[in-house]
Amino acid sequence: MKILAIHGPNLNLLGERESQHYGTTTLEQINGDLVEIAKKAGHSLLYYQSNVEGELVNRIQEARKEEVGGILINPAAYGHTSVALRDVLLAVKIPFVEVHLSNIAAREEFRHKSLISDIAHGVIFGFGPKSYKIGLLGLMSLFEGSKNDSKL
Ligand code: DQA
Repeated sequence: MKILAIHGPNLNLLGERESQHYGTTTLEQINGDLVEIAKKAGHSLLYYQSNVEGELVNRIQEARKEEVGGILINPAAYGHTSVALRDVLLAVKIPFVEVHLSNIAAREEFRHKSLISDIAHGVIFGFGPKSYKIGLLGLMSLFEGSKNDSKL
């Protein structure tokens, strides 16, 4: 199965950005770990980061043509604001898991609302870079079916 990891705005700055919220791991390290985890489970993982809302929308539209079977997405700030991101995720109908590094429920009020959580298969937040790994395990478990629940 092909998986696409999507990273929203400012996540290219991970490692140097607000380490009290996001830790010191870089996006490159996170992507490397995700590729390895997916590979070990027999899947392939592509990744994409953009600071531009429309580019994220375009990339998700392309995913449908590439027969991507699952999306792992940290929408970053656009999760709180972007109707376009919600609409494209609804349009492509690819199952997705939403992740955030920080505990968005414990931060400013405007971060408590996500415009994509209710249409996600699951949402993981608050575990730092591990949120991505846990989210990926959850996403892959969707492909494997309920018989393999014990693997998680
Ligand atoms: C974030 C949380 C968002 O509120 C914020 O805008 C980000 C990162 C996280 O991973 O914790 O850029 O998505």
